[in-house]
Amino acid sequence: MLILGIESSCDETAAAIYDGARLLSNVVASQKDHIEFGGIVPELASRAHERVIWETVQQALDDAGADAGEIDAIAVTEGPGLMGSLLVGLCFAKGLSVQWNKPVIGVNHIDAHIYAAFIDAKPKLPAIALVVSGGHTQIFHVPSPLNHLLMGNTRDDAAGEAFDKIGKMIGLPYPAGPAIDQLATHGNPGFYDFPRAMMKKGLDFSFSGLKTSVLYFLEKMKPEEKERVLSDHMNDLCASISAAITDVLIYKLQRAIKQAGVKSVIIAGGVSANRMLRRKAAEMAEKQGVELHIPNPEYCTDNAAMIAVTGWFKAQQGLYDDERLKPYARHQWEKYQK
Ligand code: KG4
Ligand code: ZN
Repeated sequence: MLILGIESSCDETAAAIYDGARLLSNVVASQKDHIEFGGIVPELASRAHERVIWETVQQALDDAGADAGEIDAIAVTEGPGLMGSLLVGLCFAKGLSVQWNKPVIGVNHIDAHIYAAFIDAKPKLPAIALVVSGGHTQIFHVPSPLNHLLMGNTRDDAAGEAFDKIGKMIGLPYPAGPAIDQLATHGNPGFYDFPRAMMKKGLDFSFSGLKTSVLYFLEKMKPEEKERVLSDHMNDLCASISAAITDVLIYKLQRAIKQAGVKSVIIAGGVSANRMLRRKAAEMAEKQGVELHIPNPEYCTDNAAMIAVTGWFKAQQGLYDDERLKPYARHQWEKYQK
């Protein structure tokens, strides 16, 4: 069974083809227009999706050596995400569905991030999943396929948002997560001491205090001192910021594992590409005796391989949609609280 996956929920236009065992193609067209604005501009994002979606899908078909007639179903991100961006992918998928006479399958973006772990492995369920991206920082209990129950959420910024906003303060271009990750590899994570919020309480997160703390740290310095820190100690600063974010993520993850009593852990979403997080997660998993699954970095950030794979799992259960499929900007929690 060949599934074409289409992703357009944020600023990546992506298409991929999966056959139930192997990924036959995986194309991502990243938008660069947002860099100069220091963040995503929704209207620009939808226009960029519209410009490149056809060639992205065509490229995925070409790379897979597949003919349109061989595709059995079209899986597409239905939400959550930016409404204008989602609409481009969804309308395109519905158009193909009519033209090819093949069913469409709506895929939840959070399910898809979790299912990215199934591209190259077979994680055991039940599992705990930490989804950390620019829009999400949530801990889920995943009792069975295509289900996720919320255990912990961020009260303010998502972890990726914290990386990006703090990165902007220290002069890094958007999105700053990958650059902070890279610079941190050469720095001392204990050089500066930034706060770890809400460690004593539950499974929720808060990253706005860290953002404010870095802001005060920069503001209280004289201009020449700030210049020196940002040139001579940039690596240490990035390592210390990364340490503050990843410590909290790992601590809460560990607490959730104990609470749920599971033996399997999945970390997914753009921030799961972070090297310090991956290293700490591996250490924690070994200590706790749990199996850890983190997708390859290329499947951590937004991509369509995860949409195609999730679509394939839905197809196995006969979960098809039709022309009534609608996008949603916000996650529909009520569907998942069973
Ligand atoms: O999953 P994703 O591609 O899009 C959303 O659904 O948000 O995640 C993007 C986020 C951005 O905030 C980006 O800075 C962050 O993931 N990110 C990273 C790394 N790679 C991407 N953060 C830290 N370290 C990385 N290596
Ligand atoms: Zn995402």
